[in-house]
Amino acid sequence: MHELTKSTTVPDMLAPYDVPRPHPEGRAWTMANMVAGLDGTAAVGGRVGPLSEGPDVELFRLMRALADVVVVGAETVRKEGYGPVRLPEERQAARVATGRTPLPPLAVVTRSLDLDWESALFSEAGTPTMVITCAAAPADRLARARDHAEVLVVGEESVDLGAMLQELLGRGFSTVLCEGGPTLLGRLAASGLLDELCLTLTPLMGGDPLPVALTPEGGGTSAYQLRHSLVHDSTLFLRYEAAGRE
Ligand SMILES: NC(=O)c1ccc[n+]([C@@H]2O[C@H](COP(=O)([O-])OP(=O)(O)OC[C@H]3O[C@@H](n4cnc5c(N)ncnc54)[C@H](OP(=O)(O)O)[C@@H]3O)[C@@H](O)[C@H]2O)c1
Repeated sequence: MHELTKSTTVPDMLAPYDVPRPHPEGRAWTMANMVAGLDGTAAVGGRVGPLSEGPDVELFRLMRALADVVVVGAETVRKEGYGPVRLPEERQAARVATGRTPLPPLAVVTRSLDLDWESALFSEAGTPTMVITCAAAPADRLARARDHAEVLVVGEESVDLGAMLQELLGRGFSTVLCEGGPTLLGRLAASGLLDELCLTLTPLMGGDPLPVALTPEGGGTSAYQLRHSLVHDSTLFLRYEAAGRE
């Protein structure tokens, strides 16, 4: 069922997103959270910042409270200078009360392993960051990665995303939040692995020629159903689930 909410004051951004997410047989449920301009652009000058403000910034931060693990493509980590996940104390306490860890770990998907091991993402004490890579990763970098992160090798020439979601479920992560970027999201969707897309439409045009999802060559289409929409000023917050997942 689709619900529409109109809001002129800043609403509780997370409430419409706090829904049951039963994982499919054998793999984790995969939700993505993305923001786009009216022309579908996913970045301005290589950064998301100009597309995301006010309630969307809040939503980006809080959405992580719903995840067992946050998965992100390496290029987004490099371009956005990713750090560890942080959540307000009360959200951490609410997670613990439902049997989760206070914070979800972040998992970086990469073949090159070209990551800054000195950055806060890999050096700050707290929830350790995971690295998900494939057998074709450079051996010297693989050894270094193991000094700084928990490393999962899933797939040969590239990370097998279906196997990754199986592996994550096996580790008790039944809800995966993918924060992009477009390359990773496009591959997930083209493999039929994207169960939910939370998409904010920002009233702006003219960013980078980079769509929210880059479909790999030969990738098919997949259908989604609108489950919730929220209008706040001129920004539209949309929550879709893959069709046929009643
Ligand atoms: N609008 C939004 O909501 C949003 C969200 C996130 C990011 N962005 C923007 O998107 C841009 C970055 O996106 P992007 O599409 O260029 O990159 P991306 O999806 O963040 O990362 C791509 C990289 O992820 C790794 N990767 C992805 N799938 C893989 C697989 N199956 N196996 C092995 N490695 C895999 C590879 O890393 P290696 O190169 O290390 O091998 C690949 O180069 C930035 O400008 C960022 O600001 C926008």
